[in-house]
Amino acid sequence: MAVLEHEVLVIGAGLAGLRAAIEAKHKGADVAVITKVYPVRSHSNAAQGGINASMGEEGSDDSWEVHAFDTVKGSDYLGDQDAIEAMCREAGPAIIELEHMGVIFNRDDTGHLGKRAFGGASFQRTFYVADITGQVMLNVLYEQALKAGIKFYDESIVTSLLMRDGACAGAIAMELANSEVHVFNAKAVVMCSGGLGRVYEPSTNALICTGDGIALAYYAGAPLMDMEMVQYHPTTLKGNGALMTEGARGEGAYLLNSKGERFMKEYAPNKLELASRDVVSRAEATEIEAGRGVDGCVLLDLRHLGKELIMSKLGQIYQLAKDFANTDMVNEPVKVRPGMHYQMGGIKTDINGATPVPGLYAAGECACVSVHGGNRLGANSLLDTIIFGRKAGVHAAGYVKGIGTHTKFDETAARNDHSRIKDLMGRESLDDTVAGIRLELGTTMDSKVAVYRNEQGLNEALKKIAELKSRYSRVGVGDKNQIFNTNLQFTLELGYMLDLAETIIMGAIERKESRGAHFRRDYPERNDAQYMKHIMMTYANGAKPKISTAPVVVTRWKPMARTY
Ligand code: FUM
Repeated sequence: MAVLEHEVLVIGAGLAGLRAAIEAKHKGADVAVITKVYPVRSHSNAAQGGINASMGEEGSDDSWEVHAFDTVKGSDYLGDQDAIEAMCREAGPAIIELEHMGVIFNRDDTGHLGKRAFGGASFQRTFYVADITGQVMLNVLYEQALKAGIKFYDESIVTSLLMRDGACAGAIAMELANSEVHVFNAKAVVMCSGGLGRVYEPSTNALICTGDGIALAYYAGAPLMDMEMVQYHPTTLKGNGALMTEGARGEGAYLLNSKGERFMKEYAPNKLELASRDVVSRAEATEIEAGRGVDGCVLLDLRHLGKELIMSKLGQIYQLAKDFANTDMVNEPVKVRPGMHYQMGGIKTDINGATPVPGLYAAGECACVSVHGGNRLGANSLLDTIIFGRKAGVHAAGYVKGIGTHTKFDETAARNDHSRIKDLMGRESLDDTVAGIRLELGTTMDSKVAVYRNEQGLNEALKKIAELKSRYSRVGVGDKNQIFNTNLQFTLELGYMLDLAETIIMGAIERKESRGAHFRRDYPERNDAQYMKHIMMTYANGAKPKISTAPVVVTRWKPMARTY
């Protein structure tokens, strides 16, 4: 067991983690990053369509304030408006900074930065690199992190956060290559571990998105907020659920039902396919339920865009549809359905990324600032990672300056994690498997805690989670190897996933109204009088989470009816 020491420990090497690490390093802190995968394999890699910013160009009616209003409306008035204002105000300079770092955004015909339309936006303000925006940003930020001399601990899974005197003081992690457990003493931890998409099956999320960091912060006492707000993306590929970017609709693709109708005109006459995601996903689900679907899907039609545009701007999704659905989207529409894509809720932070646990910061999808509220606008997530990753880096670096020497290393926590892993490895593998439980978890969530919800389905899902938790407590790790033991890794992850699923369902039961992505058929209206508030979950040592509420921050936009 190695004992390592750094001032700021960033967990996760996606865009939020890299941005936080770079900023903390620039502010003079000794920074290290622990990541479950090699950094450029982080899930930010999968972000396709772009990043939003209003540059406030002369002659345009767009401004950061209009972007902020669109975001507030998109959130169905659950987003905290102070945080939304900060994000949108800083978006323009952040794009220029990214460009200067080396992100080569697509240009328009005049050679200026190109923009495409995206859902829920009043103006075109999504900057993009074909349909690989996240991938390009991730590679550029990783280069910047290496240039800054940041230390990386790749392919290590964090097993717990170290706590001392009520403050977060590092983490314990298992190196996947050899299953060795190491201690990372730190003065501050910035959690940037990404989302929990794989609690659902299918999902657009990478297999690594198992909510580890959200669960670890929750166990350490940080409350989770708005967990019931789970985004279904309207265009995920039939079968494996791969993302077909909203950028396709931004470029002009249509959604059709089995009768060949552009059905969105019935649901969102003004914005059609570019209404916000919750609205489009519900419309698709309604069409499919009403028997106007095709093979459990609707059709995404790009044919009129032409081969040149598809190949130059949407080449990745062209290839995904070809490889996984055997569809040539230049010549035929592709079957898509609403699929789990993003968790709006997460570890509650303030506008600087600080959680209520001293020394623990969070940014990116694992965090809830909250800028997305009940529904995130497409292309606001890359923006969130960059803006709040940077802020968390600044503030963590500032926090560690006020702390003297590292506190003495206490072996107890490391020993506990070591025995937990030994215990898992020692259990005999019976008929039940981690993969089986994980699949039942995912399909339960996808059928009962999805686009449409009701009390009965939610209660059934909660009961199922209790059953799965009990089975999980007895499941064994079949593979007894120490080398890249993915069976062990998946077992650790499944514990996090089950606890987080419980918070999602309990939040959804608690919120007896419909708002954003949370649509209760038994309570189909938004109820501002009773529910314009955040729902918080606090860990209760294995018992059901403690539920409380927090007010929504309103600066200038009072709730209004939300139509597109
Ligand atoms: O559709 C997309 O390209 C996804 C973007 C996002 O979730 O922000």
